[in-house]
Amino acid sequence: MKYPFLDLAAVNAPMLAQIQDAAARVIASGRYIGGPETEAFEQRLAELAGTAFAVGVSNGLDALRLIFRAYIELGRLRPGDAVIVPANTYVASFLAVSDCGLRIVPVDPDSRSMNLSGDAVEAAAAANSSVKAVLTVHLYGRAAYDVAMADAVRRHGLILVEDNAQAIGAVCETASPADNHRTGGLGHAAAFSFYPTKNVGAAGDAGAVTTGDAELAACVRALANYGSDVRYHNIYRGLNCRLDPIQAAVLGVKLDNLERITTARRANAAVYAATISNAELTLPVHDSPDGDVWHQYVVRTSDRDGFRSYLATHGVGTDVHYPLPPHRQPCYAGAFEGTFPVADSLAATVVSLPISEATTPEQIREIAEIINSYHR
Ligand SMILES: Cc1ncc(COP(=O)(O)O)c(C=O)c1O
Repeated sequence: MKYPFLDLAAVNAPMLAQIQDAAARVIASGRYIGGPETEAFEQRLAELAGTAFAVGVSNGLDALRLIFRAYIELGRLRPGDAVIVPANTYVASFLAVSDCGLRIVPVDPDSRSMNLSGDAVEAAAAANSSVKAVLTVHLYGRAAYDVAMADAVRRHGLILVEDNAQAIGAVCETASPADNHRTGGLGHAAAFSFYPTKNVGAAGDAGAVTTGDAELAACVRALANYGSDVRYHNIYRGLNCRLDPIQAAVLGVKLDNLERITTARRANAAVYAATISNAELTLPVHDSPDGDVWHQYVVRTSDRDGFRSYLATHGVGTDVHYPLPPHRQPCYAGAFEGTFPVADSLAATVVSLPISEATTPEQIREIAEIINSYHR
């Protein structure tokens, strides 16, 4: 492909020497679990999210599972309580909720933003008194949060958990100026994923939890370490979900580059928005230039297969996030009442274009021109 969808070696090339140094430093240190590298990374992540606490963990799914499990251990959620989850998210958001014995209430996203809206949260919470929490998902790098969501959370006394797997460094520009605007600090707790394809990607699996809640942070940390508060003393039937210090060191290099990464992605998105003029496509909303971090640039077309094969013929790699929504996955057959037409429609029409910082604005312009010559 002349324009690969995502070339991770090219993404990492400008940081390769520092990444290798970081990994070598940990290997030479003899400290392979916990220690100063993970502590330093946690501190930087908490500063980034504007939260008092960050706990490095094994991956994004475990970060979400640990949050919900911690709320149950602390008695603030009970098994069987219902949790609102957007119907068009990646399946991991659903898996974390059901794994903890909580009930998923899928809610259709807003078709314009492709994100959960505060009004939809209000309606779902008002209709179902078992709803005790919301898992808002900042899909594609755009904050899924607004004043109406904050109001609904307050009015119904809900716990607001953020799935920030795709939106590190994003800002909610419409949040109340009195609040923390940064994703990862908008709700009561947030999960991060550092899966290698993310804007901040590890050289393997990694994740984190951020929160301003000291009790929750301590519980997550204990649960991720066999349920142990003090060595050889277990207060929970815990797990082993710790962050690998080699990954923490690698992620420190990535955080050094976060501003460059985000700036490049925003510039690429702006070129697409200014250059694509093909009426057969729906472009993503582009109303938060200093907020979105453009993990994906997602267009919509009813001729997805034709469009993707046209682009492939012209050397443009694409992907689909996601072709089958969680409520249609075989593992959730028969699990939910109701229909989710927006999520179904998105699953049938979305196409992700190259957007990473390894693609230059000039290449993005060339891709946009190829797109402008496409007719079904
Ligand atoms: C929205 C969302 N939630 C959760 C996850 C799970 O993260 P991980 O792959 O690190 O387990 C991902 C990424 O894979 C994701 O995109």
